[in-house]
Amino acid sequence: MKVFASSDIHFDHNPANQKVWELLHKKCLTQKPEVLIICGDLAESLSAFDQSLSLFKDLNCHKLFVPGNHDLWNRVDTKSNATQKLEVDLPKICNNNNWHYLPSNPLQIENWTFVGSPFWYDYSLMPKDHPFSVEDFQKKSYQGRTWQDSNFVRFTQFKDDFEVCKHFYNQLKSDLKLAKTKQIFCASHFPCHHEIFNFTGKNWPLEYFGAYMGSNRYQELLEQYKVSILLSGHVHRKFDETINDMRVILNPLGYLGEWKSNDPHSEIDFAIKQLII
Ligand SMILES: [Fe+2]
Ligand SMILES: [Fe+2]
Repeated sequence: MKVFASSDIHFDHNPANQKVWELLHKKCLTQKPEVLIICGDLAESLSAFDQSLSLFKDLNCHKLFVPGNHDLWNRVDTKSNATQKLEVDLPKICNNNNWHYLPSNPLQIENWTFVGSPFWYDYSLMPKDHPFSVEDFQKKSYQGRTWQDSNFVRFTQFKDDFEVCKHFYNQLKSDLKLAKTKQIFCASHFPCHHEIFNFTGKNWPLEYFGAYMGSNRYQELLEQYKVSILLSGHVHRKFDETINDMRVILNPLGYLGEWKSNDPHSEIDFAIKQLII
């Protein structure tokens, strides 16, 4: 089975990002993957989200989506509950555009089960010797810089990030329990492995923000259910290693300033992970 995977397209961030998305669409039409998976941070506004998904309406394959924190942002009504986007708006737009919204339902394709969850962060990916307290991380602001989820993502039914994390953990666990195939492919937005990060301890004001990169608590659950492949996003860096028999992949597009070039035509090849599973 031919799978194309990517994340962090940030469609409404820059016209160059939009161009890569259009090129991805063209590439899928010619190379015909059986599955396309996007692991979040596709678009902030619902109209851009709808626009980006609708571009793929003539692509006849399984199109799977998992939301990231940016997909849950609401800059207009910052008091709104992110659950509205997570459980109502995004699934509806996916459904209208013939995309499969993985957090609502896992999907079995041949001898693989695809499960998906945004995951969340609980500061557990920070190195052991960091100098911060839990209260420092809960402020989501340090030396004048702010983690913008604190302004734009609000889960009003959860009291803190630990509860958000636990909510997604429980959902993932029930999805994994129901998987009927031996081979499981998990798609998440936030990663869960320490191995992805290279903390130096030499620049804590910057490394403070590592607290919001994901959570280690999902790793054990994925290993318990013998997940074969974990595809994540959020961290705008490529990664592809096998950890405890699980292939862990990050293959984001990211922001223009992070690209190898300024050219969407050359960036498109780096932005797609092609897998045969
Ligand atoms: Fe991102
Ligand atoms: Fe993200």
